Amino acid sequence: MKQLKPDVLAVGAMDFDRRLFDELIPLPDGTTYNAYLIKGSDKTALLDTVDPAKVEVLIDNLVKAGVDKIDYIVAHHGEQDHSGSIADILVLYPGAMVVTNPKCKSTLMDLLCIPEDKFITVDDGETLSLGDKTLQFLYVPWVHWPETLATYLQEDKILFPCDFFGSHLAASNLFVDDEPKVYEAAKRYYAEIMMPFRNPIKNNLKKIDALDIEMIAPSHGPVHNRPDFIINAYKDWTSDNVKNEVVLPYVSMHGSTKKMVEYLIDALIERGITVKPFNLIETDIGQLAISLVDAATIIIGSPTVLTGPHPVVAYAAILANALRPKAKFAGIIGSFGWASKMVEQLAGMLGNLKVELFDPIVVKGYPKNEDFLALDKLADDILAKHKSINIVD
Ligand code: FEO
Repeated sequence: MKQLKPDVLAVGAMDFDRRLFDELIPLPDGTTYNAYLIKGSDKTALLDTVDPAKVEVLIDNLVKAGVDKIDYIVAHHGEQDHSGSIADILVLYPGAMVVTNPKCKSTLMDLLCIPEDKFITVDDGETLSLGDKTLQFLYVPWVHWPETLATYLQEDKILFPCDFFGSHLAASNLFVDDEPKVYEAAKRYYAEIMMPFRNPIKNNLKKIDALDIEMIAPSHGPVHNRPDFIINAYKDWTSDNVKNEVVLPYVSMHGSTKKMVEYLIDALIERGITVKPFNLIETDIGQLAISLVDAATIIIGSPTVLTGPHPVVAYAAILANALRPKAKFAGIIGSFGWASKMVEQLAGMLGNLKVELFDPIVVKGYPKNEDFLALDKLADDILAKHKSINIVD
C-alpha cells in the first residue's frame, strides 16, 4: 500500500497479467485498478473500488490500513473495473453511502443493482467535508462515459479524474518514473478509449485548467506528480493539428495488394511523408490506434473477398470509424480477381470520418505499369493536400 500524501493512500490493485480489456483492447503492459482512501479528521472516503477479479486485494489493503469505518464511497464512473466491487465494500462497511452524480447513480443501479437509498448525489462543483479535507466534485462528461465524475481534493491539490489521464500500465512504482513509457501507454489509452470524445475532452481540459493541481491520480496506471506532462499531452492529442503522416493498414492474400502497398510506401517516403504501414494480420490493433491520433491521412489496402473487403480490413475500418480520428484525408487501394464492390462497402464503413476521399485505386490482378503511375499520382495528391494544410516543412 502506498501513500500519495499524508492520509491519502492508494489501496487499489495491480494486474500485471491481464492481456485484454473489454474483450477487445490489447494490454501489453497489464493494467491497474486504482482506488484511493482519504482519511479526514471526521470522515473517511474511498474513491472508487476495483475490478471484481481483484476485490480481495482491495479488502486486504483496507484491512492493512486499519480502516474500521468508511463513510463515503465516491463512484466516479459506472464501468465495472471501478464500480464492480462497490457491493462487496457495502457489505463490509454497511454504514457507507455511495456518493456520485445522478447519471452515475442511475448507471450503478442498472449495472450493479445497488439500492437507491444507498446513494448521495452531488452537483457539479459541490463540496463534501471530511473534516480537515474537502472533496470538490466536478462533472467531466464523456471521459469516456456520459456520467463521469472527478474529485479534487482541495487541501492536497490532488485531482482524481478516474479514466481521464489514465494508462493501462501495471507498474510497481506509485508515481510516474519513466515518462516516455507512460507517454506511450497513455497515448495508447487515449487512442483506444478517449479519442472518440475529443471535443468534450477539450471542454474538460478547460475546466480543470482553473484548478491548482499538484498531482493527478487516475484510475489506471501511475500517478502523475508532474501534471503538466499529461495535461499538455492531452492538449496536443485533442487539438485539431495533424501531422505529415499516412497510416496504411492493409491485408494482402496473394501479393497484389502488398505490391501496391510497398510501392506506395516508397513513393510517400520519396516525397518526405512519414508512412506507418500495418499488416493487419499481425498487427497490435493498439499500435494502429496510436498512429491514428496524429496522422493527416489514412490509406486502406485490401484485396477483394467475395466482392467485399477482406473481413480483417472491414474489422479495422469499423474500429477506425468508431474511434473517430482527426485525419483529414483518406483513400482505398487494393485488388480483385473477377469483380469488386470493396470500395463502396469500405466507404460505407467510414461514415464518422470527416475526410476528403482520394480516388480509389483498385487493380484487377497484379498491379501493372499504369497502376504504379496511379499510385505515384496518389502520393503526389497526398503531398499536395498536406501542403494545403501547411503540415509539410
Ligand atoms: Fe476504467 Fe471506463 O473504466
